[in-house]
Amino acid sequence: MSYYSKIIGTGKGLPEKIMTNKEFESFIETSDEWIRTRTGISQRHIANTEKGESTLSLARLASLNALEKAAISAQDIDLIIVGTVTPESVMPTTANSLQRDLGAVNAFSFDLQAACSGFLYGLSIADQYIRSGTIKTALVVGAETLSTLVDWQNRSTCVLFGDAAGAAILTRSEDRSHSILSTRVYSDGTRGDLLKIPHGYAACPPWRADYSPSEHKIKMQGSEIFKLAVRNMIDASMKVLEDNHLKIEEVDFFIFHQANIRIIEMCVKTLNVPANKTWLNVDKYGNTSAATLPICLDEAWRAGAIKSGDKVLMTTFGGGITWGATLIQL
Ligand code: UT7
Repeated sequence: MSYYSKIIGTGKGLPEKIMTNKEFESFIETSDEWIRTRTGISQRHIANTEKGESTLSLARLASLNALEKAAISAQDIDLIIVGTVTPESVMPTTANSLQRDLGAVNAFSFDLQAACSGFLYGLSIADQYIRSGTIKTALVVGAETLSTLVDWQNRSTCVLFGDAAGAAILTRSEDRSHSILSTRVYSDGTRGDLLKIPHGYAACPPWRADYSPSEHKIKMQGSEIFKLAVRNMIDASMKVLEDNHLKIEEVDFFIFHQANIRIIEMCVKTLNVPANKTWLNVDKYGNTSAATLPICLDEAWRAGAIKSGDKVLMTTFGGGITWGATLIQL
């Protein structure tokens, strides 16, 4: 008997505070016009850590929404994976704390670091556990508070990111026509310098004399990353289509990582995807890293833009560098 992973619920979690482009004008040399025309971003949500908003609280919100949509209880979850580069704490992992908060007493849980590709990597791992028959149900979350890691004086990066979480629940099914059809994930550490947060704890512990807080902030070579994001998301998308012997026109909906509207437009144009077959929310949220794909999936599903039986191609690109694509049939 073959097992497959069916997506039965999705959810999102956003901080309350919205920060508009205009607000940046008071502390860096930029303009609403530059940000909108060069990135497509109009605003982003920013976590208020003093009010208890954090990677964990957003992950919790997204997970509760997903559990409600899936109509299952937290005790039904066997595995929790949280994709994040901004974990609540190193130990316990964000996933362990989420397990505690949800009361998911039957789950084992871990965090996964793959930058913006964290959700897709997590999806591929959960899918393998389900297909192998090891587990029945998994909660995969992408949750980030990148506002804690941006250099607020660097106009090339600080305007790009927002805080959020997205979640999906997968469960074992014997019906391939409502499942994750295939996933491809990739990484290239030789290009890691192009988008990085140089210091974790090991490279330079904060008590060392040469410790520099700026090395804990996001650094990006924007135009190089831009070109790679377009090329690699297109390549990965073509690979999952080939894996499934499908043509672009046989796919019902496309979700691209939301980092920059111009990246999405180039992918859409090159792949020849009709504009009404994609989801866009980069204007409202900016780049929410690992949270992006599950939020788009959740919004498109709840809005009726995708429905049961639709073939949905999702693709992402992130720091480090990491990328991938998946084809699901809802
Ligand atoms: O999650 C995946 C990772 N992220 C991405 O995929 C992001 C990829 N990169 C990008 O989206 C774009 O490269 C950026 C939005 C980051 C930059 O846009 P760009 O069109 O590639 O601009 P640029 O880096 O070539 O910079 C052009 C100019 C520079 O000024 P000079 O040197 O020509 O005088 C920048 O200093 O734009 C300047 N600039 C800004 N000006 C006003 C950069 N950021 C800003 C800003 N406001 N916020």
